[in-house]
Amino acid sequence: MMKSPQVLNVTDDILWVGAIDYDIVTFDVVMETKYGTTYNSYLIKADKIAIVDTVKGKFWDEYIAKLRSQINPADIEYIILNHTEPDHSGCVGKLLALAPKAKIIGTGNAIRYLSDLITVPFESIQVKDGQELDLGNKKLRFVAASNLHWPDSMYSHAVEDKVLFTCDSFGAHFADERMFDDQVGNWDDAFFYYFDVILKPFSKFMLKAVERIRLLEINTVCPGHGPILRTNWKKYVELSEKLAHLALDTPLKKRVYIPYVSAYDNTAHLAEAIAKGIEMVPGVEAVLMNIEHASLGEIDVELASSSAIIVGSPTVNQNILLPVYRLFAMISPIRDKGKLAGGFGSYGWSGEGMKIIRTNLENLKLRYTETDVFVKFSPDESDLLRAENYGKRFAQLMLRD
Ligand code: FEO
Repeated sequence: MMKSPQVLNVTDDILWVGAIDYDIVTFDVVMETKYGTTYNSYLIKADKIAIVDTVKGKFWDEYIAKLRSQINPADIEYIILNHTEPDHSGCVGKLLALAPKAKIIGTGNAIRYLSDLITVPFESIQVKDGQELDLGNKKLRFVAASNLHWPDSMYSHAVEDKVLFTCDSFGAHFADERMFDDQVGNWDDAFFYYFDVILKPFSKFMLKAVERIRLLEINTVCPGHGPILRTNWKKYVELSEKLAHLALDTPLKKRVYIPYVSAYDNTAHLAEAIAKGIEMVPGVEAVLMNIEHASLGEIDVELASSSAIIVGSPTVNQNILLPVYRLFAMISPIRDKGKLAGGFGSYGWSGEGMKIIRTNLENLKLRYTETDVFVKFSPDESDLLRAENYGKRFAQLMLRD
């Protein structure tokens, strides 16, 4: 059984007091985390003691033991919340009960979100870009970083220690008890995947944030997840900038993702015919995927890199099948809004699948085409030709977009 280290010194006065989650399988329920993750919280032992972010609620016992090994929680004066998603704010309520004089520091959105996330009343100071917090012998300066990855997000810069706390930015879901970037080996794979899923939809905000930190004096970047960047922070900031530029500058290829499930190959045959029709149109490609056993990661990569989606499911007992609901959960109305969409499938008695697929895709803000291909039982040659023609028309529609 791997263990979380007790505490780690980032500098003489700044300590990592976070938690390591080796067992997590999916983050936010939808993002695969095959390398586990960490919830990084930091203790600043200044004249006025401050905490930067906390950890997920289930790690409370371990977390408070770490803090008690260093300080009396009653002495905490400030809890800085760079972002209020519960993987970072999950222990704030319990911590406030032990730290009655602690004030919450965050953006206006963070203060508002926290009041809806926890039930205990709290004192707070709302901060803006460039504002400073006096810790006696040190100061923190705050940097606006909204939408990375919620509207409430900001960074905090420990000016004298030259440490920048960035929460989700420059992080990765990667668990290794050695924690420092120069000790954990190569985790770039986890970094790229994390950027793709969590931050890429907010690329324009990432570029703004990178501009804002460009002139700061930094020795170490302390993200909210994954390794502490004390040696190679520039590499990960530059990579984030590059990936954000790529996301904004590269129009999506004309690529149609066709995820489907099929009980008796009837829906599969329709999928193949639609793909054949699409591929007849030069400049458009089709990606077929039977998603019955596909991982969330595989689905997400295809969704992110496609400019349109056509979803197939048989209708069984007046409903569509479970893997298609998993697929719907992976569609991001922020990232995928406006993509052209369609549906297809085989049915027996009645064809509820048609309406369910269309309604779900429209609710997720995709643009459903006027026609789709739903067929009673097994598709015959004319049905397959109809599916092929549908694919062709769909692809031509994309080219006109
Ligand atoms: Fe790590 Fe958006 O929370």
